[in-house]
Amino acid sequence: MGGNMPFKVKRICCIGAGYVGGPTMSVIAKNCTDIEVTVVDINETKIKHWNNKDLSKLPIFEPGLDAIIKKCRDINLFFTTNLKDSIANADMVFISVNTPTKTSGIGAGKASDLKWVEESARQVVKYAKGKTIVVEKSTIPVRTAETIKSILDTSNKLTNENKEFSVLSNPEFLSEGNAINNLEDPDRVLIGGEDEGSINCLVNIYKKWISPKKILCTNLWSSELSKLAANAFLAQKISSINTISGLCEKSGANITEVAKAIGMDSRIGSKFLNSGPGFGGSCFKKDILNLIYIANFYKMPEVSEYWEKVLEINSWQQNRIVEKIVSSLFGTLSEKKIAILGFAFKSNTNDTRESPAIKICKDLIKEGAELLIYDPKVSAERINEDLNKESLLLKEENIGKWHVTKSIYKAVEGALGIVVITEWDEFRTINWAKVSQLTNYPIWLFDTRNICNKEEAKKYNIRVWTIGL
Ligand code: NAD
Ligand code: UGA
Repeated sequence: MGGNMPFKVKRICCIGAGYVGGPTMSVIAKNCTDIEVTVVDINETKIKHWNNKDLSKLPIFEPGLDAIIKKCRDINLFFTTNLKDSIANADMVFISVNTPTKTSGIGAGKASDLKWVEESARQVVKYAKGKTIVVEKSTIPVRTAETIKSILDTSNKLTNENKEFSVLSNPEFLSEGNAINNLEDPDRVLIGGEDEGSINCLVNIYKKWISPKKILCTNLWSSELSKLAANAFLAQKISSINTISGLCEKSGANITEVAKAIGMDSRIGSKFLNSGPGFGGSCFKKDILNLIYIANFYKMPEVSEYWEKVLEINSWQQNRIVEKIVSSLFGTLSEKKIAILGFAFKSNTNDTRESPAIKICKDLIKEGAELLIYDPKVSAERINEDLNKESLLLKEENIGKWHVTKSIYKAVEGALGIVVITEWDEFRTINWAKVSQLTNYPIWLFDTRNICNKEEAKKYNIRVWTIGL
């Protein structure tokens, strides 16, 4: 493509209308009114929801997203299942499809499953016309661009048309619940590539609203590896503070004070030091597993073992929360009602992928508890699907059950324990007087996020356990 290709991008197609594709393309459309942006997905229901007039029915919940959709949809932002025309019309195609951990075959449980990325590349080969810049937006293992390039390179051998492709890596760093702020004002935009003309095309798009100082251009492999490394470093920070929370509970130190004390060192930084029920979300675990796989591939067991520990500590944190609940409730949960407040993996999202709530709830159910689950944004269908998934051995004796409720106060009715798992704002201001009238005695509050008003709860004889205190 080289210097031949510094054209102005007029039409963008994004393959994948998920948590990344939807918000990212919305923000591009909002800031680049001269570009027509089409987001395409194979999932018809999802596309129907993206096109729903009722903006509360968008397939994902992200603060501020509805306003952008309202402003841009059907003007320069389109959602469709028509892959063929969307790719054929585009000067630039973003690949923003899922890259989960492989579940079978070589690398199962660690390597990324790239079948959706490969399929997207094949669709680009098939439908693209003329010159097309292909942008990897999905998180992928280092050197995936090679795979994409080799698929794209077959194009002219397969067809008589003269197609020209250039591949860029442009990993996404948005965090759910904060996606629109992150996209409007990112810490940095990372672009990896070899072809200057194509890099400039993408830089020019971002420059419409982001300072050039924040746009970092690197080689392809640095860009791909930086994405995995960034997520691994963030997850490592959480595992580190979670180990310290355990030590605080034993030693009389207070995790809030320790986190503040260490976070004031600018070399450590105060962000990502909230101890909690362990990290969830679709990416931290999968990206670390991927890093572990790559380290093993390059025969560096010390590197893979280092990152494995970060994942082990995450499971340890969830296990010890369950043990604390069981031991506080006299060693058995059989037929005891427990309120679960929060099911999303973090606040301000309806995403439950890898949510700590799933493992904690399953373990409590296995102990025989009856769970009353409330989350302000996660649907009952989602919760039921997550808890039914995998091996919940319903035939086992002493197995409990769960119900999804519509409010905090419905969830606590008759409960002996209240477990706060997601840091939703409404859990900060729970009316403990009301709770004390609805629950059974003695009642325990297990605050795994350290967000509840403990002193207020204690006034009503509620016993409180807080992570790291
Ligand atoms: P997602 O599952 O929400 O969305 C992916 C979408 O791609 C799905 O709707 C799926 O139907 C669609 N898709 C798959 N194959 C397709 C095909 N061949 N043609 C058309 N559509 C297809 O996933 P996501 O959370 O948006 O993540 C996408 C990528 O971005 C992943 O690699 C992830 O690691 C990365 N990422 C995610 C986040 C996040 O916060 N979720 C942040 C940064 C990076
Ligand atoms: C994370 C990264 O922050 C994004 O930069 C990245 O783009 C994204 O993964 C991705 O690649 O998917 P996300 O998973 O949406 O974003 O959310 P985070 O805010 O990072 O939280 C991840 C998990 O860590 C949540 O379960 C959260 O509750 C937990 N966490 C976070 C803590 O337990 N303590 C903290 O101090 C911060």
